[in-house]
Amino acid sequence: MSFRIQPTAPARPNRCQLFGPGSRTALFAKMAASAADVINLDLEDSVAPTDKAEARANVIAATHDVDWGNKTLSVRINGLDTPFWYRDVVELLEQASDRLDQIMIPKVGCAADVYAVDALVTAIEAAKSRKKRISFEVIIESAAGIAHVEDIAASSPRLQAMSLGAADFAASMGMQTTGIGGTQENYYMLRDGARYWSDPWHWAQTAIVAACRTHGVLPVDGPFGDFSDDEGFRAQAMRSATLGMVGKWAIHPKQVALANEVFTPSDAAVAEAREILAAMEAAKGRGEGATVYKGRLVDIASIKQAEVIVRQSEMIAAN
Ligand code: COA
Ligand code: MG
Repeated sequence: MSFRIQPTAPARPNRCQLFGPGSRTALFAKMAASAADVINLDLEDSVAPTDKAEARANVIAATHDVDWGNKTLSVRINGLDTPFWYRDVVELLEQASDRLDQIMIPKVGCAADVYAVDALVTAIEAAKSRKKRISFEVIIESAAGIAHVEDIAASSPRLQAMSLGAADFAASMGMQTTGIGGTQENYYMLRDGARYWSDPWHWAQTAIVAACRTHGVLPVDGPFGDFSDDEGFRAQAMRSATLGMVGKWAIHPKQVALANEVFTPSDAAVAEAREILAAMEAAKGRGEGATVYKGRLVDIASIKQAEVIVRQSEMIAAN
């Protein structure tokens, strides 16, 4: 056990991040009225190259004109391998209102990618005397991103969240898949002729969670493309929640309620966690470090597990 205390991630709800193209202004009011904790206005891959400048202007106007309530407002800029990203940063930082909370940097491949954006943002914030310090979130969606994931998690004090972007990740890895997240038809084990599907995203998710938890960053599951498949979304989201992720993207409004449902600890889970804490408190009174709860061992590590659930529930309720 390291003597260093694991830093805590930002205490803000991030159960669902709802995306919408910066070129579709008709969606902005609907996004603002949604139940998503985070809004991501997109300048990147949902916006055609010919629409980039207009989308940028739309998004800047929306930071002034739209009432985003208490949501975290984030804008996804273009990748550092494009000619668009520097103008995204310069125009956003020079012209967006202080309602803008966060910039999402896609396709991050190394810590220096974040450093470059940080340097530009820091200079413009100072030049413009901006009051709110912009935070960052990144997408791990390439072989380089996952190979350097821990460096990236430690890259900037601005960094608050890190998502897995399944589609670009799969392409970069050369994976033979076409679906965006979820079960992949050809990824199965055989036993006695029966197929058992496994999870090809599992290791990348776990690597992201470990890097995030080491450096106090929120780990988030990215998009699930088939928005007609509620059960598929739910299954993917429940696996992510089990692994330690705090939320998931919605690429269609019908996914918002699903993500909120999965990433809000259920009443039953919170009740059980509180019972475990009470059982351990009673054990402590008897001078014991371990006891039995519903026929199973609970000990001091169980307190920490139960506290994760109770803290998450209280933080969501407080917001
Ligand atoms: N946010 C809020 N509302 C949305 C929305 C979004 N992202 N996408 C669609 N809606 C609204 C529609 O305007 C429509 O509203 P209405 O009932 O008032 O007419 C309703 O939800 C149903 O929409 P639907 O017709 O099923 O979808 P669509 O064909 O208009 O759009 C997508 C489908 C997938 C193109 C659209 O949801 C979208 O652009 N999603 C985000 C894509 C994105 O940002 N990708 C980048 C991250 S991977
Ligand atoms: Mg992508």
